Amino acid sequence: MVRTRFCDVFGVEYPIVQGGMQWVGRAELVSAVANAGGLGFITALTQPTPEDLAKEIARCREMTDRPFGVNLTILPSISPPPYAEYRDVIVEAGVPVVETAGANPAEHLPVFHKGGVKVLHKCTSVRHAVKAQELGVDGISIDGFECAGHPGEDDIPGLVLIPAAAKEITIPMIASGGFADARGLVAALALGADGINMGTRFLATAESPVHENVKRRLVAATERDTDLIFRPLGNTARVARNAVSEQVVSILDEGGKFEDVRELVAGVRGRKVYEVGDVDLGIWTAGMVQGLIHDVPTVAELIARIVSEAHALIKGRLVGVLA
Ligand SMILES: Cc1cc2nc3c(=O)[nH]c(=O)nc-3n(C[C@H](O)[C@H](O)[C@H](O)COP(=O)(O)O)c2cc1C
Repeated sequence: MVRTRFCDVFGVEYPIVQGGMQWVGRAELVSAVANAGGLGFITALTQPTPEDLAKEIARCREMTDRPFGVNLTILPSISPPPYAEYRDVIVEAGVPVVETAGANPAEHLPVFHKGGVKVLHKCTSVRHAVKAQELGVDGISIDGFECAGHPGEDDIPGLVLIPAAAKEITIPMIASGGFADARGLVAALALGADGINMGTRFLATAESPVHENVKRRLVAATERDTDLIFRPLGNTARVARNAVSEQVVSILDEGGKFEDVRELVAGVRGRKVYEVGDVDLGIWTAGMVQGLIHDVPTVAELIARIVSEAHALIKGRLVGVLA
């Protein structure tokens, strides 16, 4: 048993979170995480409309009677999705917790809290974490430079970011980016976090709704096989390195504009990677931690393994170093 205050505040057995994942955070994966005692998040924007999100929440409830959440990623966009409508669906469905990410959640916070929804805000810097804490969120997920997706522009890895955040944050805080196993969980606890959030590790599980070729690629890949795209645009994203990511990096490095890569980075191409299993078809998200992934377990096996190995690590190796 590994338990922290995160479990008490968010109503889960283990301090292990599956963060929002576009095209991946669906009922199959999220319910498996819930059934294994972790906190899984359905990704709101994977559902084409707010009505579809309501259906996905209902579908997830048929697969688990344990708590789960919804991720609402609020990214600046020329034609933004109807965030407020997705938010209202989350509240009306009685979902107990939301993971906000991508921007300051201030606009949505009062509605979530009025509806009894706890807010776990994911961010990539100490200053944003402090801001969110001041706004009154219920928990922080602090995402280091290693992470899959958007690491921000500060490039601070978890080994520094987590203790730096822990110094300022008094509410429950989980560490994110680069976690895959018990060693990571124990390290996160030692650095001052109350648990871990994982994306890439959950992408390579039996219940993850993506093509087997993607999972095989994650197992085969090393920690060096990611690319940082959109750096010159100030909107960095860490993705699996492939023919398309290399092309995008080189076009933008040579002074290209977003227009020049728009077709290459189109979301539909990335989605196709997961559906048809051609890992070179488009941009898809993965973190450096793929270098620590060597198998494709079920979610239950993964979480049970992390918990039991963390226990053994603390009781054995760590106690053993005490003179
Ligand atoms: C395939 C994939 C898609 C992701 N999509 C989102 C997303 O839509 N919204 C979000 O907040 N985070 C997203 N993330 C980031 C994860 O929630 C998590 O913060 C990140 O994966 C942690 O780093 P790790 O992959 O090293 O565990 C995604 C990650 C992956 C692997």
